Amino acid sequence: MIQGIDHIGIAVKSIDEAKKFWVDTLGLKFSHIEEVPEQKVRVAMLKAGEMTIELLEPTSLDSPIQRFIEKRGEGIHHLTLATDDLIEQLKTLKSASVNLIDEKPRTGAGGAQIAFLHPKSAHGVLIELCEPHD
Ligand code: CO
Repeated sequence: MIQGIDHIGIAVKSIDEAKKFWVDTLGLKFSHIEEVPEQKVRVAMLKAGEMTIELLEPTSLDSPIQRFIEKRGEGIHHLTLATDDLIEQLKTLKSASVNLIDEKPRTGAGGAQIAFLHPKSAHGVLIELCEPHD
């Protein structure tokens, strides 16, 4: 079952530059930075109350985030919904003919199990499902 929004992912050219707006100007709290080598990104987690914003900076020219920025510029990249059972959720979605980018969960930032759904099946929104790591 979907339990709520886990975070919003924003593609940026430089975390250091983007932090000047999100943290210094807007006042979100910087949590931490981690590298997710499988997705060729550095990820900065920002908090405002219960809300989490993830800034995604490409670490290589063939990073999916690099390709996104080249095509569309910086901006909102994905919306992440939390689920209590990712494997079951993916089965349900598959049987409803939803186009899955990841048929099986993989490990994302913070050790969470994640899977992406294709924007074609979600009215133009790239959706990441995650089962948070506790
Ligand atoms: Co994300």
